[in-house]
Amino acid sequence: MADQPELLYAVLKESWSTDQFIRLTLSKIRKGSDAATRVTIRPVVIKGKAQLSFVSQYPTKDITKNYSFAEAEKRISNLLETAYLIANLFTTEKQIILEMRRNGKATLRTQANKMTDDLPARSHDRKKKDWIADKRFLVELGILNSSGNVKKDKGDKYRQIKKFVEIVDGLLRQQPALADRDPLRIVDMGAGKGYLTFALYDYFTHTLNRSVKITGVELRKALIEKGNAIAKALDYKGLRYESGFIQEYELPETDILLALHACDTATDDAIYKGIKARAELIICAPCCHKQIRRAITKSEDLQPILQHGILLERQAEIITDTIRALLLETQGYKTKIFEFISTEHTGKNLMIVGQKHERPVNTETLLTQIASIKKRFGIDAHYLEKLLDFKVK
Ligand SMILES: C[S@@+](CC[C@H](N)C(=O)[O-])C[C@H]1O[C@@H](n2cnc3c(N)ncnc32)[C@H](O)[C@@H]1O
Repeated sequence: MADQPELLYAVLKESWSTDQFIRLTLSKIRKGSDAATRVTIRPVVIKGKAQLSFVSQYPTKDITKNYSFAEAEKRISNLLETAYLIANLFTTEKQIILEMRRNGKATLRTQANKMTDDLPARSHDRKKKDWIADKRFLVELGILNSSGNVKKDKGDKYRQIKKFVEIVDGLLRQQPALADRDPLRIVDMGAGKGYLTFALYDYFTHTLNRSVKITGVELRKALIEKGNAIAKALDYKGLRYESGFIQEYELPETDILLALHACDTATDDAIYKGIKARAELIICAPCCHKQIRRAITKSEDLQPILQHGILLERQAEIITDTIRALLLETQGYKTKIFEFISTEHTGKNLMIVGQKHERPVNTETLLTQIASIKKRFGIDAHYLEKLLDFKVK
């Protein structure tokens, strides 16, 4: 059987992965230690990454340091072995008190958490916002259990959904043209189970009180039927899933085009459709980058790098997405590329955003930049370039 500290670490880990961790305090200094009087550890989000913030309280000052979960775990165990005798862990459901005795033995007590703390605010610079108003769709989609708690293995997905809504909310505020679109028209290409479309529907309808028409386009019939059945059961009137193949789908008038984790060139097809529909926002999270990976010519000088599969993969990703961004810019979009959720949670975490603007565009410079990248890597053409009918030499 695991010993008492191990049990505490297991609960800590589980509450972290299910987004139920509130705080951990370490106190009662061991004899001879010059550690801080007390350390309080809470979750925070810094630059989009979930971390643990350690505040060490000294008589005259507090010192704050932030760590990834893996680093924090090691640090907590080290502090308990060398500096503190008591650990007090609060999750949304319970409180666990670990008391280490000087003789090396330990006791562990568990009681219900009677405090009213809700899920913690993991942010340095934003006031707490839950991003989800009507949690019923999360129960229907299997993220929350029937008591409304995040299922053990769904913490990452839950965080990803909330992060996604937060990002769209921020982008929306930067596009004045979207302020009075009524309804706001959103199309999600390759919607899958619809986590993100449901979350956006909920946010716009229930939090922002806006009228939206969201269409999820999906290949798999079972997912379309399930999505529509849930939307109907929850009375989400502006949300529907349609059978469609991204490449052939005729995009209606669209304000926001989404394509998250659509495979390889399906992302390009979706971007192209968004450009043609003059969508104000094009948001995609590319999945794999096979087209450019195959198109790269391994010149002698690049051979040492590209001979390694993983580095070739990463190089293909960088080239594919850089050219996507440059091509979007030729079409009057300002672009950003960023990690939308920590790599700790998923490898497929890069997001490309195109924001429509009306400023003049220096197409020639952009095409020269694309030509030079292609030349360097011996690439004949990028798939999106062909769709846009550019022949960048
Ligand atoms: C990896 S899932 C991503 C789902 C969702 N966008 C997300 O990020 O949670 C990709 C989905 O796109 C669908 N899909 C793949 N290729 C497609 C295509 N050419 N047209 C329509 N849907 C496609 C798949 O069936 C799958 O459900």
